[in-house]
Amino acid sequence: MVMIAPSILSADFARLGQEIDSIREGKADWLHFDVMDGLFVPNLSIGIPVLESVRKYTDMFLDVHLMIREPLRYVERFCAAGADLVCVHAEADTEENIREALRKVRSLGKKAGLALKPGTAWDGALPFIEDTDLILVMTVEPGFGGQKFMADMLPKLGFLRQTLDEFGLECLLEVDGGINPLTASLAAAAGAQVLVAGSDVFKAEDRKARIAQLRGEKQ
Ligand code: DX5
Ligand code: ZN
Repeated sequence: MVMIAPSILSADFARLGQEIDSIREGKADWLHFDVMDGLFVPNLSIGIPVLESVRKYTDMFLDVHLMIREPLRYVERFCAAGADLVCVHAEADTEENIREALRKVRSLGKKAGLALKPGTAWDGALPFIEDTDLILVMTVEPGFGGQKFMADMLPKLGFLRQTLDEFGLECLLEVDGGINPLTASLAAAAGAQVLVAGSDVFKAEDRKARIAQLRGEKQ
């Protein structure tokens, strides 16, 4: 069964505690936390102070997606602020620095994730495969919620699934962007184990039912 990670980017930040309660009660598996720097992506979002507050508020697993340049500068602080998993983009720095960022996260006892933008081929993950607990395949251009799922990313997921299985690696596969009940089933069939869903969950009248639907549970 796939895990569902609602992205609080689509939440109402003026009532963040209640928003988190609603997805916790809705049996979401993880909370996805999108960080943007206005450089790696053309948008700004939330950062360390908000993460610290969220950490104090909930014991949910915090899946932090850093859409920032040179993430090595900040991974330690995101770990200290309460992230359970810190995901960095393969495109955000040199191979050496990205590897160091992943290793730093693990050395601090947290899970390390590697994200790939749509333009990065599946094998862009290979140099990091020993150093990562999760590979995040972006199915929209990072920067904004509410975009359309790029179905042409499904073969990329398939190649990664096959590679991880062939090497017997425990690394999880996560998909982020444009997830709704239809694209959730496509991504799960292609081998994804964690689905990030922002707008689809937060705009739903009944978030619990929607999360169950995304997970593929019979209604
Ligand atoms: C986009 C973010 C996503 C976003 C997903 O850059 O990484 O996590 O919030 O939003 P939806 O599910 O609306 O595409
Ligand atoms: Zn994200």
